Amino acid sequence: MLQTEPLYDPFDPAVQDDPYPVYAQLRATAPVYWCAPRRCWVLSRYDDVSAALQDPATFSSAKGIFPAQGFDLAGAFLPMMIMMDPPRHDLLRRVVAKAFTPRRIALLEEPVRQMAAEITERLVVTGGGDVVRELSGPLPAMVIADLLGVPRGDREQFKAWSTALVTTDISSREPLRSNLDAAAALYEYFRQFFDERRARPRPDLMSALVTAEVEGRRLTEDELLGFCLLLLVAGHETTTNLISNTIAVLAERPDVLERLAREPELLPGAVAEMLRFDSPVQGLSRTLTRDVRLHDVDLSAGDTLLLLFGSANRDDSVFPDGDRFDIDRTVDRQLAFGRGIHFCLGAALAQLETRTVFAELLRRTRSWQLDPDTPAVRLRSGPIRGYASLPVVL
Ligand code: HEM
Repeated sequence: MLQTEPLYDPFDPAVQDDPYPVYAQLRATAPVYWCAPRRCWVLSRYDDVSAALQDPATFSSAKGIFPAQGFDLAGAFLPMMIMMDPPRHDLLRRVVAKAFTPRRIALLEEPVRQMAAEITERLVVTGGGDVVRELSGPLPAMVIADLLGVPRGDREQFKAWSTALVTTDISSREPLRSNLDAAAALYEYFRQFFDERRARPRPDLMSALVTAEVEGRRLTEDELLGFCLLLLVAGHETTTNLISNTIAVLAERPDVLERLAREPELLPGAVAEMLRFDSPVQGLSRTLTRDVRLHDVDLSAGDTLLLLFGSANRDDSVFPDGDRFDIDRTVDRQLAFGRGIHFCLGAALAQLETRTVFAELLRRTRSWQLDPDTPAVRLRSGPIRGYASLPVVL
């Protein structure tokens, strides 16, 4: 295919501001697109993205899943299942799944509600502020701390390390000094934590992780550390972005806000539609293990592909009138949490956090607007979609 100029680059600020028109073009005219600046192929149609996710033997995660970055933060040092293929991945996931159970997530419902109530109350009393700093940034870090069993007294320190770990300069080919320092501090902290929980188990995820066993196999020290850091890398900023994106989308739709305030039972469906409509993870990559021919394009073993969940989720062939935000539509096929063996382990938790935040917010206010005097700042993190700051007036 002849391309005279780059049509799509996930790191182009104009694309990041609004990627959806470009996705529509890709789906219509270039379903297998060569993104020269990132040296990767791009798949944008629902059926192709979904099929690739379900074929890990051909589309491998082992060489990294973030496109065109010179390093995989933290994964560079520790084993993380998100960057593994079967059979290694599956065994690790089975051990972890013994600890990370739906029952354990359900136990977080009340603590999450309390945290959301406190934060939203403060935001309403002050008449608004930067949602990322006040609400969507801190809450997911606090929830992961609670889930792991981090004592309340260590929470502020934990939150600071966790923020330093995930705050990275995506244009840099290496981790930042601050990322490495935070990772080192977290290793040290977790290591002591493991010993303590082995000696005196409590009803928390950390205790369950150190004792979880499948076929006589427990997690090694490095696997334990890798998993704890993965929870932070995969579960913190993603949820932050879902909450921020939802604030921004609803700010433009006072009629939907009004309806959700009247009928809070619609919130789970609204959150699912938000995940489809403005996915926090717009895409992740895979590496081909063999030659493949797709839509008349020959791809070679070793090639990298970016799978665009954000575009698949707007594909009209699956979601009619996909660019329309509609909380009444059925979205059980959306791909914001991936599909197949790597399907997001925290999907239920992320949705619990988001619907709780909005239930608490809507109990206190029925409308908000983006601050006309202080413009929002978009994240510049490749295919990660969200805000660095999002000032609102309540
Ligand atoms: C809205 C928030 C979230 C989004 C959009 C999201 C998205 C995703 C996606 C797309 C994947 C699949 C990766 C792949 O196929 O390569 C994934 C995997 C994963 N997510 Fe999430 N995630 C979110 C929240 C969370 C939370 C809250 C946690 C835990 C606290 C979490 C933990 C994980 C883990 C451990 C994996 C790896 C699973 C595996 O490799 O088997 N995520 N997530």
